[in-house]
Amino acid sequence: MLPDTILKNQLSHTLYKTDFKFGRKYEGKVRDNYILNGKRIIITTDRISAFDRVLCTLPFKGQVLNQISAYWFEKTKRIIKNHLISVPDPNVMVVNEYKPYPVEIIVRGYITGVTTTSAWYNYERGIRNFCGNRLPEDLKKNQKLDKPIITPTTKAEHGSHDESISGEEIIKRGLVDEKIYRKIEKAALALFDFGAKLVAKNNLILVDTKYEFGELNGELVLIDEAHTPDSSRFWIKGSYDELFSKDQEPQKLDKEYVRQWLSDKGFLGDGPVPSIPDEIKIEAAKRYITAYEMITGNEFMAKNEDVLKRIEKSLKNIV
Ligand SMILES: Nc1ncnc2c1ncn2[C@@H]1O[C@H](COP(=O)(O)OP(=O)(O)OP(=O)(O)O)[C@@H](O)[C@H]1O
Ligand SMILES: [Mg+2]
Repeated sequence: MLPDTILKNQLSHTLYKTDFKFGRKYEGKVRDNYILNGKRIIITTDRISAFDRVLCTLPFKGQVLNQISAYWFEKTKRIIKNHLISVPDPNVMVVNEYKPYPVEIIVRGYITGVTTTSAWYNYERGIRNFCGNRLPEDLKKNQKLDKPIITPTTKAEHGSHDESISGEEIIKRGLVDEKIYRKIEKAALALFDFGAKLVAKNNLILVDTKYEFGELNGELVLIDEAHTPDSSRFWIKGSYDELFSKDQEPQKLDKEYVRQWLSDKGFLGDGPVPSIPDEIKIEAAKRYITAYEMITGNEFMAKNEDVLKRIEKSLKNIV
């Protein structure tokens, strides 16, 4: 773990936004995308979002997320081709631009969640057929499923909410061609199985995750991000059984720390974001770094520097 002094000194050098003049910019809550010449430059900033709001920046958060994704793209490229071309900077990925399929493919090994599209939320309300998956009676919250299930959502436009959908419906509505959809299902399950087995060695459970796929000239490709704490849930494996048997929540490798702090302060997304103290930011950054180290099994390396200046330098020879 990086020493506290480095984390503290980095508070004033975090990356909040970029404003490059090349390509077409698309700004997500966390990542700034620049599309040019059939390629996409994805810059993962240090922004943290919760309740659909950008809250603040955290030291090294962008690097953590970018490098976790890069790690998985390298590890999984034998399972399915992905969009990654290069990682010219710790916070930046250059990828090929593909035509994204208009669905998000969520794979779940466990039944959990609190949002309206989560499996547990629906199960608790009596739903036994969730996105085309028949669920048995008497499941408990956080229980392992017999085998992982796919619960897709449609990809909503900016601002509106994703909607759960079954594979059959995706095909019926013509969102994805049937043959390709079958390939997507197979790839998603293979990726999930691979990821779950690999993180199990590091005492983690890959609980669920979201994949996006794209295509170019009929070829199926994994795009966006892969098995990051933003797209996936991870629980600590060693304590799961005991906690589950006592009806207690699993230990989470969570990105919920700041969200929890805010909701304890009474902030649930409306009105001005309360100012977040440095100690909270440092603790949250540590949790992201721990996530990097546990997921990849590698030590996280970074030093104090201005992230934006470094990115400008890194991109000089590229665009
Ligand atoms: N290689 C790629 N080719 C084409 N589109 C891609 C590629 N990789 C990612 N995308 C798309 O680019 C968008 C990136 O968005 P980003 O994650 O930055 O923000 P967002 O998904 O709109 O919002 P949020 O901040 O809530 O995640 C996603 O819609 C994703 O599907
Ligand atoms: Mg996104």
